[in-house]
Amino acid sequence: MTDKPQPCVLLLFGATGDLTRRKLMPALYQLHVRGLLPPHFAVLGAGRQPLGNEQFRTLMREACEAFCPTPPDDAQWRSFAGCLYYEAGHFTDQTLFQRLNMSLREIDHRHHTRGNRLFYLATLPSSYPLLVKQLRDAEMVNHNPGHPFTRLMVEKPFGRDLASAIALNDEIAGVFREDQVYRIDHYLGKETVQNILVLRFGNAIFEPLWNRVHIDHVQITAAESIGIEGRGNYYEETGVLSDMVQNHLLQVLSLVAMEPPLSFEADAIRDKKTEVFRALRRFYDADDVIARTARGQYGRSADGQLVGYREEPLVDPQSPVPTFVALKAFIDNWRWQGVPFYIRTGKRLAQTTTEVAIHFRQIPFCLFGQEQVCSRIAPNTLILRIQPREAIGLSFGVKAPGSETSVDNALMQFTYGKHFDGELPLAYERLLTDAMRGYAALFARRDSVEEAWRFITPILETWATRPPTDFPDYAAGSDGPPCATELLARDGRVWRPLES
Ligand code: BG6
Repeated sequence: MTDKPQPCVLLLFGATGDLTRRKLMPALYQLHVRGLLPPHFAVLGAGRQPLGNEQFRTLMREACEAFCPTPPDDAQWRSFAGCLYYEAGHFTDQTLFQRLNMSLREIDHRHHTRGNRLFYLATLPSSYPLLVKQLRDAEMVNHNPGHPFTRLMVEKPFGRDLASAIALNDEIAGVFREDQVYRIDHYLGKETVQNILVLRFGNAIFEPLWNRVHIDHVQITAAESIGIEGRGNYYEETGVLSDMVQNHLLQVLSLVAMEPPLSFEADAIRDKKTEVFRALRRFYDADDVIARTARGQYGRSADGQLVGYREEPLVDPQSPVPTFVALKAFIDNWRWQGVPFYIRTGKRLAQTTTEVAIHFRQIPFCLFGQEQVCSRIAPNTLILRIQPREAIGLSFGVKAPGSETSVDNALMQFTYGKHFDGELPLAYERLLTDAMRGYAALFARRDSVEEAWRFITPILETWATRPPTDFPDYAAGSDGPPCATELLARDGRVWRPLES
């Protein structure tokens, strides 16, 4: 790993699309303002809209005005906009790639970007194989390790199931070496997700407790109050499991559960994460899937203000697609044998909150006389609050003041906002600079993506053959469907309340 992002041109396919507008351009602009882009850097956008450079710059400024934490000021924008270029065309058209090649050479000359290329596929996944092939045919991929470098950044979803993920990875592997491929999972760019490793391995006190002897169970929650945000056709294809669990939440789980890596090198970390995916207990059969999962779909809110999923634009009025899932996973290894990892995520829930809660075991013996005193002692819980109001909290029992021995539960909390000045960087800022550095630890490697699909695909298959009969089964704005509560109740446990 080199410390500084290296000079390069970011060739951005899908340059007028939603992802570029909402996430990529705001992140690049923020990096520019913070002085974190390489001194020799440019973006060449490619898309179907017939735009000139100036029109593209105007469009990107509008995007930054809408989606940057603070809107761009004129001077900063001018210096940033000078490195934005655009080339219009169809991805099926080979002459587009010849033109891109020419523009890249001119940009290299003007911006001293030394022939280094970062290709970013921010398009529909169906275009990935074509784009990869066109890049190869136009001889734009340098396979020699070292300089100039060619790297490929790919957005999720990486396939729709195990077979399609393998096929996509094979297509990519036909053109790029695995160490040239940077598969984005933007959760890995979040500060608080990265902090899971620092908390575990930068402190001596947690790791000795981080196992089946002390931990009763783990809850991973990503609740969203938003709906599908006009992405009806995408969501109908994807559903909650492939949208959130196969990627983001299993990545979070792997960081919580992995063994200590040998170093902080990318592959040392990714090896340990892949071991977690390999150890995920497979589903024995369809009944096991049904027993260990709960699915739901939102209907209209109780006050009638929010429409149900089936009433959203571009959604089938009889759609069986789930917008909520809860599941119970086990990691079959020495450390975690018997410890359930419960995952839940859904759209249109009462609160937006993403967190990991490590629930420790109950005290083994009641020392304080009466059972009713001890029954009030809640087991310790370590809460890693990923967003919003990023924090880490530990709940513990304290003596309530007075002559009686009475126990109360208190919370010791560290809050990012209070401890550190300034806003947390956007997830894409970190990921883009890491790709410019050539540091791949925060990107999903081929084996982990496929292992995650190996776990998820049987759920998709079972759900397809056993369609839901009770959808919609939770009201928009509620805590989710009753079947999720029952999943934990069967094990004598409850979900942590959703907190904003
Ligand atoms: C995306 C999903 O990958 O992640 C969206 O496609 C989801 O459906 C989003 O809303 C959540 O990301 P974040 O950063 O807002 O938690």
